[in-house]
Amino acid sequence: MHVLILGANSDIAYAAARKFASTDKASIHLASRDREKLEKKKQDLVTRYEVDAHVYQFDAENPETHQSFYDALSDKPDVVLISFGTLGDQKESEKDFSKALKCINSNFTGAASILEVIAADMEARHSGCIIGISSVAGERGRQSNYIYGSAKAGLTAYLSGLRNRLHKSGVQVITVLPGFVKTKMTEGMDLPDKLTVQPEKVADDIHNAYRKRKPVIYTLWLWRYIMLIIKMIPERIFVKLNL
Ligand SMILES: NC(=O)c1ccc[n+]([C@@H]2O[C@H](COP(=O)([O-])OP(=O)(O)OC[C@H]3O[C@@H](n4cnc5c(N)ncnc54)[C@H](OP(=O)(O)O)[C@@H]3O)[C@@H](O)[C@H]2O)c1
Repeated sequence: MHVLILGANSDIAYAAARKFASTDKASIHLASRDREKLEKKKQDLVTRYEVDAHVYQFDAENPETHQSFYDALSDKPDVVLISFGTLGDQKESEKDFSKALKCINSNFTGAASILEVIAADMEARHSGCIIGISSVAGERGRQSNYIYGSAKAGLTAYLSGLRNRLHKSGVQVITVLPGFVKTKMTEGMDLPDKLTVQPEKVADDIHNAYRKRKPVIYTLWLWRYIMLIIKMIPERIFVKLNL
């Protein structure tokens, strides 16, 4: 089995790489911008799990390179995990739209661009699994992070549509909706202990969703209910909240 991980320097992605390597003895294909960091991860996977591992240069924000990136892969993937993204800075994005655009492109446009290429191949092969990491932040826009939230909302809607399109081809599409995860993205943030998980927990949930062919997962599961309540708050009340 070949697992392609896009944005493989992400802490969640690397935990997922370890999970697929240890459980399925899969060949792991790591792609991201920082190749040096990827090489270290590759060595670690090979030593620890005795699997095949490969490294590729990939930039989600360069959509014009996505078709040639995919065409150059000699082993087309059975499983693709999309894990790249940036949180950005909401206040900075309000002052400078180029920063907002970077956040939108790294979380949404880049994912849609590479997934269109991958979807066409998997659709033709009538097999495969696409796993996209979105966020609960995309479930309802809040003043503190609505640029990131709207990019993730776009990604969630995109994955839903893709799942609908690929269902008849037998291609699985999984939407992963994490809440708070302890990674370099959330470093220095004061997160509530009971609602914050380690990347390994997200990786276990992703792998479980893959095995059980689940379409949408919240990780931690409790976020499904938290977001249900948040989405039920009437807009005239929501608009006054300092969220
Ligand atoms: N941590 C959380 O609480 C949380 C919650 C909900 C959702 N998520 C989502 O989970 C995913 C993984 O996040 P994480 O927490 O594991 O964050 P992370 O450790 O900060 O990883 C994010 C990775 O994205 C990669 N990346 C950024 N821009 C890219 C681009 N243009 N092209 C290719 N790679 C790019 C970076 O790779 P390089 O180092 O190679 O540049 C970076 O290692 C993200 O989509 C994030 O939005 C995280």
